[in-house]
Amino acid sequence: MRIIVCENYEEMSKVGARIFAAQMTLKPDSILGLATGSTPVGLYRELIRMNSAGEIDFAPITTFNLDEYYPISPDNDQSYRYFMNENLFDHVNIDKARTHVPSGLAEDPEAEGKAYDAAIAAAGGIDIQLLGIGVNGHIAFNEPDEELIVGTHVTGLTDSTIEANSRFFASRDEVPTRALTMGMASILGAKKIVLLANGVKKHDAVMKLLDNTITTQWPATLLKVHPDVTLICDKAAYEG
Ligand code: GLP
Repeated sequence: MRIIVCENYEEMSKVGARIFAAQMTLKPDSILGLATGSTPVGLYRELIRMNSAGEIDFAPITTFNLDEYYPISPDNDQSYRYFMNENLFDHVNIDKARTHVPSGLAEDPEAEGKAYDAAIAAAGGIDIQLLGIGVNGHIAFNEPDEELIVGTHVTGLTDSTIEANSRFFASRDEVPTRALTMGMASILGAKKIVLLANGVKKHDAVMKLLDNTITTQWPATLLKVHPDVTLICDKAAYEG
């Protein structure tokens, strides 16, 4: 695992964005794996800036997002589809038809999961996957458990995640208790992975990533089997 420790969130976002820009320059029709949460917002802001400055082109780009609440409508301002439109897609020259987020309205979520993995495979696989990390070590919505699921699937959210994500909702009761998420194997199938972590609250999560154990009780530790992971964090997350 490559580790880049940055002074602060702003620098971290710029370093992450430069890696995505380099990928888009080397392979203009890249398949990008994208993430939600507060962590990647700065990186998206930087990509928007580079796009308006004519430095990067989103026209030939295809994207797949990690996860979506279930059930939820894409018009709901708490949905991850809404978040992606607001924080990236509406501000760059991307063709929305090439942007994929699991459907929070799918009647058959199991079938939606299978179709999502099939669409990623048909596109040729993800070239570079952006990840955040939950305070409990979750990746996307792969929550700590005795077993983890291979492909995209519906899952229940842990109390810790509902609590952490309730800051975006009017009340804790409004946080959906289920989600559709890419599985750990779908995520580990990406050619490159960039994981962002900032703030002292992510220190434990970062430490577990850097020890020499792998456990499904801390899903992020599975990233240790991947040959091309770059961890970008700020000093607070790294040093505690
Ligand atoms: C959510 C998302 C994850 C994200 C995590 C961390 O639960 N499903 O993909 O990594 O939260 O969020 P934040 O970046 O806001 O700390």
